[in-house]
Amino acid sequence: MAILKIARMGHPVLMGMAQPVEDPTDPRIHGLIADMVETMADAPGIGLAAPQVHVPLRVVVFRVPGERTEDKKDVPLTVLINPVIEVIGDEVAEDWEGCLSLPAMNGRVPRPTHIRYRAQGLDGKTFEREARGYHARVVQHECDHLDGVLYPMRMTDLTTFGFAEEMARAPRTAMTEDGDNENESGEAA
Ligand code: NI
Repeated sequence: MAILKIARMGHPVLMGMAQPVEDPTDPRIHGLIADMVETMADAPGIGLAAPQVHVPLRVVVFRVPGERTEDKKDVPLTVLINPVIEVIGDEVAEDWEGCLSLPAMNGRVPRPTHIRYRAQGLDGKTFEREARGYHARVVQHECDHLDGVLYPMRMTDLTTFGFAEEMARAPRTAMTEDGDNENESGEAA
């Protein structure tokens, strides 16, 4: 296992379409995923997509801590190979995001709140889950990386985009109204 270097915004590997994985059971893919999990834990982050470690393949890893989920249950470490997202309903909500490829920055991003996602696991079998709220947000953020999309490209109000440390100087009612440390959510994915 190894800790991999994370590409930052501007690197071409983050801007292209990642390729499908032909054989999810290939030991080389499993090796990549083990390294991605180690890199994510080291960062630390809650999600990581293969293009962020300079590998243009459709692979995502994430885990969502219970304090961020609607039912307060952890979403355990999950590997998505060749994921596909289907939006359910038309509700959209805005929340803070961060990204390991834009270190120390945060911004408010509107996203659908309810999705279904389908992917292959390490065994090559397809599984499906429904997700809401922060879980749905993390999956969308990570899968965007596979299509060359970074969260600022989804933002509609760039006045909320900046360095977390600098934004902490100003009054930020919106950032603190739910009482948790939004900067933690920022160092996400
Ligand atoms: Ni990200």
